[in-house]
Amino acid sequence: MKTKTKILWAIVGLLVLIQFIRIDKTNPPADPAQDFITLKNPPQEVAHILKASCYDCHSNHTTYPWYTNVAPVSWWVKRHINEGRDELNFSEWGNYTAKRAAHKLDESYELVAEGEMPLSSYTLIHANARLSEPQKQQLLAWLKTQGAKAQ
Ligand code: HEC
Repeated sequence: MKTKTKILWAIVGLLVLIQFIRIDKTNPPADPAQDFITLKNPPQEVAHILKASCYDCHSNHTTYPWYTNVAPVSWWVKRHINEGRDELNFSEWGNYTAKRAAHKLDESYELVAEGEMPLSSYTLIHANARLSEPQKQQLLAWLKTQGAKAQ
């Protein structure tokens, strides 16, 4: 075999092998009583926006699309979810101190206003998580009613 062919087969072999390293897709338990949407009771459209655009990474209610079956994409998505939950977990909102909650509201306002959330690497593939301009304004206006300050 030519060296090039060998390298190609090595890559194919590696891609097959890494498929055996699966990510954990079990969602951590969530207490509905501590959930952001339950506690804040936003208008239905806002609840819908939060669920569609934020909850996959910032709650314990992640839905995993088909491509998360394919390594290494799966590892990369899982890392975002872990990081997202660490930073802000809407499923644990009720356990946040008043100070932390206020800070997270401000941050949410800022990141959405700047177009940094939802993550663009995610909305690229996940069209239903994209925020239209009216949806964005609706979310921002509502966040303000909850005390979010633009920084
Ligand atoms: C694809 C996953 C993903 C989605 C969807 C997503 N986020 Fe994030 N978010 C992250 C990750 C990862 C971080 C941490 C790293 C960073 O800041 O880029 C983060 C960080 C944040 C932070 C920063 C917390 C802090 O205190 O610094 C806030 C606030 C936030 N996101 C709000 C939102 C809101 C609101 C939405 C929906 C409009 C959203 N995110 C959608 C992945 C996501």
